[in-house]
Amino acid sequence: MFCSIFAQVLVVANPANTNALILKEFAPSIPEKNVTCLTRLDHNRALGQISEKLFVHVGGVKNAIIWGNHSSTQYPDVNHATVSTCNGEKPVRELIADDNWINTEFITTVQQRGAAIIKARKLSSALSAASSACDHIQVL
Ligand SMILES: *[C@@H]1O[C@H](CO)[C@@H](O)[C@H](O)[C@H]1NC(C)=O
Ligand SMILES: *[C@@H]1O[C@H](CO)[C@@H](O)[C@H](O)[C@H]1NC(C)=O
Repeated sequence: MFCSIFAQVLVVANPANTNALILKEFAPSIPEKNVTCLTRLDHNRALGQISEKLFVHVGGVKNAIIWGNHSSTQYPDVNHATVSTCNGEKPVRELIADDNWINTEFITTVQQRGAAIIKARKLSSALSAASSACDHIQVL
């Protein structure tokens, strides 16, 4: 009988990098490239902020990046982000035409969204986390 185990691990809970490191130490048979951490929640929040600002469907916003950790020190980056328009893909920075908003309010809103949700709900953003885990797994 042939038996194989296939594992792709997605670490969700913070401190995500530390949790991934612990997993790597204690599950050496899982290759480290099969272990990833969730920043898709932050990524989706960045896409959401852009889509609200531009009144466009969130599905048309592409190539936003979250650098750094899944924490308030993360750096949401729209420098390569585009939006589909009837005239093709347009740079987000050009369409928003408000560098001050991008460099300040946008970044802090995305960085602090998790804390804002916990404050408002008195519960974590469990459904958004679950939904972004599905988005993350789909692109692996
Ligand atoms: C790691 O992931 C690859 C696919 O990306 C898979 O082929 C491989 O079986 C996985 N390794 C383990 C030990 O699950
Ligand atoms: C990410 O977290 C690590 C560990 O706490 C820290 O050393 C590092 O400075 C953080 N990096 C960023 C970009 O937040």
